[in-house]
Amino acid sequence: MTAVLVVGATGMVGGLAARALHRQGASVALAGRNAERLADPSRLPGDCPRRLFDAYDLDGCAALALWAARSLGRLDRVVVAVGVAGFGRAESVDEPAVEHLMTVNALAPMAVVRGALPVLEAGGAIGVVTGAVVDATPMGMADYAAAKTALATWLAVVGREQRA
Ligand SMILES: NC(=O)c1ccc[n+]([C@@H]2O[C@H](COP(=O)([O-])OP(=O)(O)OC[C@H]3O[C@@H](n4cnc5c(N)ncnc54)[C@H](OP(=O)(O)O)[C@@H]3O)[C@@H](O)[C@H]2O)c1
Repeated sequence: MTAVLVVGATGMVGGLAARALHRQGASVALAGRNAERLADPSRLPGDCPRRLFDAYDLDGCAALALWAARSLGRLDRVVVAVGVAGFGRAESVDEPAVEHLMTVNALAPMAVVRGALPVLEAGGAIGVVTGAVVDATPMGMADYAAAKTALATWLAVVGREQRA
């Protein structure tokens, strides 16, 4: 049975992925920030192991894959659907907001992937949601687009490293 970790399972995209994977017979481990949504069996399959995490705890993000592998007995796939959008012209965005966008959209997903690389079984795969902003950068979203683009660039290099 394919073992999958879904990070951001409490969100719309992560929830859809978790439910679809579970329906297709995968064993799924769920990670999310919101305890209520993570525990809610009407949103997410009730028989999956669950773990809370926060994007600001980068070591905790990096530890999710090992937790999932121990919970499921192995780890074949990781889905990362963590993110937060941010709007505003560059001069109107304050530094804490920029730090938040970079942490949630780039540093946390990178930490999850970094932690998963040594844990995945041979032939494993990782899917990370970035966004259309990477290919078409709209005005009024410079910091969000920069965070997603940083993530996309990092993933492209890591993908090449792993395939090589
Ligand atoms: N939906 C779209 O149309 C769309 C389009 C392009 C790109 N995207 C990208 O796809 C990803 C998911 O989108 P979505 O629509 O599913 O968004 P969503 O419903 O808002 O879900 C966002 C997820 O990120 C998690 N998250 C946010 N801040 C966090 C933090 N500080 N620590 C840990 N987790 C945190 C949320 O956790 P909690 O819910 O537990 O707080 C949730 O699981 C995002 O990266 C988004 O930018 C979405």
